[in-house]
Amino acid sequence: MSNLVAVVMAAGKGTRMKSKLPKVMHSLAGKTLIEHVLDILKHAGIKHPLVVVGHGREGIEVSIQQRAEIVVQEEQLGTGHAIMQAIPFLKDAQTVLVLSGDQPLLKPETLLALVEMHQAQGASATVLTASMDQPFGYGRIVKDGENLVKIIEEKDATSVEREIKEINTGTYCFKASALISALTKITTQNFQGEYYLTEVFEVFSNLKEKMLTYLTSDSHEALGINSRGQLAEAEAILRKNILEHWMAEGVTLIDPASTFIDAEVELTQDVTILPFTRLIGKTRIEEDAVIGPQTSLENCVVGRGAEVVYTVAKDAVIGERCRIGPYTYLRPGTNLEAEVKIGDFVEIKNSWIGKGAKIPHLSYIGDAQIGKSANIGAGTITCNYDGVNKHTTKIGDYAFIGSNTNLVAPIEVGEHAVTGAGSTITKNVPAESLAVERSHQVIKEHWHREKMK
Ligand code: UD1
Ligand code: CA
Repeated sequence: MSNLVAVVMAAGKGTRMKSKLPKVMHSLAGKTLIEHVLDILKHAGIKHPLVVVGHGREGIEVSIQQRAEIVVQEEQLGTGHAIMQAIPFLKDAQTVLVLSGDQPLLKPETLLALVEMHQAQGASATVLTASMDQPFGYGRIVKDGENLVKIIEEKDATSVEREIKEINTGTYCFKASALISALTKITTQNFQGEYYLTEVFEVFSNLKEKMLTYLTSDSHEALGINSRGQLAEAEAILRKNILEHWMAEGVTLIDPASTFIDAEVELTQDVTILPFTRLIGKTRIEEDAVIGPQTSLENCVVGRGAEVVYTVAKDAVIGERCRIGPYTYLRPGTNLEAEVKIGDFVEIKNSWIGKGAKIPHLSYIGDAQIGKSANIGAGTITCNYDGVNKHTTKIGDYAFIGSNTNLVAPIEVGEHAVTGAGSTITKNVPAESLAVERSHQVIKEHWHREKMK
């Protein structure tokens, strides 16, 4: 792999996507297309590739600048032109591996096999091909017997050439010197008036340079994303692969058809996922946890043996053996220690909840710290916002907050303290004391009869 430089072409607009976003910034199973391609290279042991950017380059650059060298293609005059922009960066390269930013299902093993065959046989160019029943839209591999003659684009192909089922995946290996010299010979004389990278194969053919094809056995790998339809097709394939992977690792999925797991999610053995559940982003679920039904967790960590039912949570940590839901909403910064119980219609934001505490019904808890084994009665609200600033609420260990308490922050309730149901608490409550704030109950006897007179 020495002296190998990878170049990813990602400058095109992706007109067929009909989108404000550049094509390679569209998401697939929680990662952008360009991130998928960079991860494939990383898994193949190829670090710091060149990425050719142009259309919408600012956003792409910000997202990948740590992991790639940026090459700018100011005007997008075709894939051949994209690679021309990378020439100044190829000085020390012997082998150039070219990938497209819109081909996210490629396997690292396939890339490595392509490079190995190319180098072992001393070819000038090796193209990764696939066999497709419906090759529409792809460049076709034109051969004379076993020998590659040229790659012809759909729009330039004759009806006979369009019948060819072997297609160009858009991934290639080149001898650097041969590529650089062939790029000086390509033209824009084709249907789209662009510099096609694929035209270098005709140049090699005329020069009798050695060209090879490497046919992948899995045509899914070749899927190029040009349209929203192809994006959905890729999502379906990737999702199926992800679900099969986790089932093989010992995860129970009651209904794979209604289970959505992003590429970066981590699961462990004996996790159970119930129907209609989405696990998004960098979510991690520990052993024996049961998630769902109807649950959506984004960038969450769920501890061993927790149960999370009918819940929506984002950027939250759920401790071991917690019982969450049904109908719980956990917002960013929620941190639940072990064995916490959060029940129906409870919303929590930016709060730390101690071990074994209970918030079982109808509460809003924001910017709070709640001690271990505290009990928060039904309908309790932290009044954390005064219209200008957010304030914190602290509740000590074993405190008992009566139903329908308003806690006007900033406020502290001490350990083992109790508040009377329906109180609006505006002053700190010392440990082990009772705070009641409500007017005395008035009884008017025979009031109904008086009124009827
Ligand atoms: C290309 C190939 C086709 C192959 C298919 C595989 C050519 C001429 N055709 O067609 O043979 O079957 O991929 O998916 O190469 N790009 C740039 N700068 C440009 C133009 C494109 O960086 O000026 C980038 C795009 O962002 C994209 C990649 O190159 O990531 C491929 O371009 P695209 O327009 O999708 O090519 P296809 O028509 O799919
Ligand atoms: Ca494409």
